[in-house]
Amino acid sequence: MSPQATQTMRLVFLGPPGAGKGTQAKVLEDRFAVRQISTGDILRANVKSGTPLGLEAKSFMDAGQLVPDDVIIRMMRGELAGGESFILDGFPRTIAQAQALDETLASLSLPLTAVIMFEADRDTLIARLTGRWTNPRTGRTYHAVFNPPKVAGIDDEDGGPLEQRRDDTRDVVVERLGEYDAKTAPLIEYYRKTGLLVSVDGLEPIDSVTSAVLSAIDGPAKARP
Ligand code: AP5
Repeated sequence: MSPQATQTMRLVFLGPPGAGKGTQAKVLEDRFAVRQISTGDILRANVKSGTPLGLEAKSFMDAGQLVPDDVIIRMMRGELAGGESFILDGFPRTIAQAQALDETLASLSLPLTAVIMFEADRDTLIARLTGRWTNPRTGRTYHAVFNPPKVAGIDDEDGGPLEQRRDDTRDVVVERLGEYDAKTAPLIEYYRKTGLLVSVDGLEPIDSVTSAVLSAIDGPAKARP
């Protein structure tokens, strides 16, 4: 069984940089019209348009470090009030952010329905990120080898140019992975205790990962292996 187009989904996508969170969020967004809320995309849009939030976040992002919790929590409160169903891609990333999320969702009576943990090894993550091409307008991603667009450098969907992200250089990727280990990995235990956590193998082909995510959404407590 797979979820119905009308099914309510309130998901957290958890996992290291490059594990496939954004890729899968776009698949579900297209298939179920569920809103992807990507903190990375929101921050990059703010950096690009030079807002005060973007100016505050830019140096952290360029260095591969997490943006301070107070900035992110303030930004996300407004986003969460916007709908019944959503996929949180890249948030929360610290225990403080997870606690703020719990409080906000409780006040809106919108409990999470599942937390999906994407697993992948470090060498694969580095290879994926250093070969990634992104549509800066929509956040859709491709990979030079693993998931190439039909025409190099051009988005299959909207025909616009693809770019490599500033933080996808090897050195910055290594820094991002260090931040993940230190500050985000503790969320695995945090969400395991809630019974909402389901792990999926992010090393499988994109379609197989999608199938695993759909099984997980069907019922985290009884998800198929
Ligand atoms: P963000 O934009 O969220 O980056 P990230 O978490 O580092 O995640 P990525 O987008 O790099 O990876 P992904 O898992 O989405 O992988 P993708 O699907 O693209 O954050 C950027 C920065 O913003 C942070 O460093 C921080 O500074 C700041 N920030 C954001 N949120 C924050 C927060 N909450 N708190 C504080 N700071 C925050 O896939 C990667 C590549 O692999 C692609 O090329 C794709 O085509 C390919 N691929 C995907 N799946 C597969 C597959 N199954 N097989 C083969 N290839 C695949």
